[in-house]
Amino acid sequence: MILAIETSCDDTCAAVVSSDGEVLSSVVSSQAIHDLYGGVVPEIAARSHLELIGPVVQQALGEAGLGLPDIDRIAVTRGPGLTGALLVGIGAAKAISAGRGLPLCAVDHIHGHIAASYIAEPDLKPPFLCLIASGGHTLLAEVNEPGPAGWRVIGSTLDDAAGEAFDKGARLLGLGYPGGPLIERVAAAGDAGSFDFPRANGVDGLDFSFAGLKTSLLYRIRDLGPEQAASRSADLAASFQAAIADQLADRVSKALVETGLARVALGGGVAANGPVRSAIANLGIDPIVPERIYCTDNAAMIGRAAIETSDLDRAAALRIDSYATGASRA
Ligand code: KG4
Ligand code: ZN
Repeated sequence: MILAIETSCDDTCAAVVSSDGEVLSSVVSSQAIHDLYGGVVPEIAARSHLELIGPVVQQALGEAGLGLPDIDRIAVTRGPGLTGALLVGIGAAKAISAGRGLPLCAVDHIHGHIAASYIAEPDLKPPFLCLIASGGHTLLAEVNEPGPAGWRVIGSTLDDAAGEAFDKGARLLGLGYPGGPLIERVAAAGDAGSFDFPRANGVDGLDFSFAGLKTSLLYRIRDLGPEQAASRSADLAASFQAAIADQLADRVSKALVETGLARVALGGGVAANGPVRSAIANLGIDPIVPERIYCTDNAAMIGRAAIETSDLDRAAALRIDSYATGASRA
């Protein structure tokens, strides 16, 4: 039995996953306090993790009907993410590991999102393409093996992440945070063809860019004026959302051609978006989409990735550090 811990951003997460990949429990405690600020405040996230990590681990064990004596391994997210937030999870994992003499393994957060695909479809075998689009990351990974060295990033955002674009767009439209679900709800009553927002067609290769889109929305709202912008918010939201969905689908389509891969898995909070899923399904492929709880940040995906990841020796386990960006496979 693996006890997995994930604290890379503003969700305090713990899960119990069996060695053959069954998820026995997955607890996610979201820190609503960040909504007050319109985005995640790193220092507040770290402090909240500190308060929540003990109860969340207890709850994960309780929901699995197990106690610490039933756990054989500990897995923890090492990065990328907010370094202070990550250190709280790492500290908890080290303490449990040292206290109980249990092996510890460090998992890359992106590897975790990829591994969520195996929770969705246990028979899934690489190779496949994985699009991860969340508030913190937007990237395309070519997955050739299930282990930590078996995937590589073949495209990523040059500026904002897709979820960040939704969040910033929602703020410009006065909708609140987190923006993705709010834009999707408002957009349902709008016409996606009303406004022509940029799709970053000038960006080379498989990379993404959403900063120009956000600026374009800002100018549209300014040109319309407050009253018009408010009365056309559904059309603005629908058109803005369509621009994000089209850009994501366009890169997936190009990546399928370039890699020759036939299957696509989605991950990250933006994978919950209906028009994003439809735009990808319209490419004529049936994407693997984990349940929403496994698309957004969770520890079950970290536990699932740990099945393919080696444990660290005792000295290395005590030295684990967090990393903010990129991937450290050491
Ligand atoms: O994966 P996630 O829970 O956390 C990380 O950022 O790692 O993703 C959160 C992001 C937020 O930016 C949120 O606005 C976006 O995912 N999101 C959505 C939807 N639900 C969440 N974006 C578009 N449509 C949604 N339904
Ligand atoms: Zn994530």
